Amino acid sequence: AALVVLVSGSGTNLQALLDACTDPAYGAQVVAVGADRDGVEGLARAERAGLPTFVVRVKDYETREEWDAALAGAVAAYDPDIIVSAGFMKLFGSTFLALYGGKVVNTHPALSPSFPGMTGPADALAYGVKVTGATLFVVDPGVDTGPIIDQRAVGVLDGDTVETLHERIKGAERGMLVEAVGRMAREGFVVEGRRVRFGKLVD
Ligand code: GRF
Repeated sequence: AALVVLVSGSGTNLQALLDACTDPAYGAQVVAVGADRDGVEGLARAERAGLPTFVVRVKDYETREEWDAALAGAVAAYDPDIIVSAGFMKLFGSTFLALYGGKVVNTHPALSPSFPGMTGPADALAYGVKVTGATLFVVDPGVDTGPIIDQRAVGVLDGDTVETLHERIKGAERGMLVEAVGRMAREGFVVEGRRVRFGKLVD
């Protein structure tokens, strides 16, 4: 299965996928890495792995819809089976989801449906929960609302800061992402309402 990975930051989730893909038995290859901004470590990781990269910046387009269509076009050039949003800090629009809905997965650093949005670890800490975690889901038009593929629980420790908690969540997130994307690549996957099932659709 061909993966396009989208990043906005450090790209540790991307790196975990790149490392997994060095084993042919993993069943997937990253064919390109895209970003919404220049100069991020995720793009440097892709370049070090010898992969093509592209950047589609919101500021280069008049409207968010035009940006979304340009992003869809850039991704389409690589004809991916699965698109992995790995710390990609933008919401997809209707053009992108019309083309790729059901094939885009995203990681979220909280246990959905708790704490959606950009500040999951901080919100969990502020709320005082004792268990939070990471969620992998199939992207839909909402904010972190799509059908859940997998979740990992992470305990909140006394003395945790947003940074220490987020780092532990990211460890769980990477393991979950690598495991689930590998299964999706090798076995196929089907979205049935709120459920995501591994395996090919049989009719
Ligand atoms: C991850 O925790 C992701 O869920 C969040 O941002 C982080 C990205 O980390 N939205 P990285 O760029 O993969 O290192």
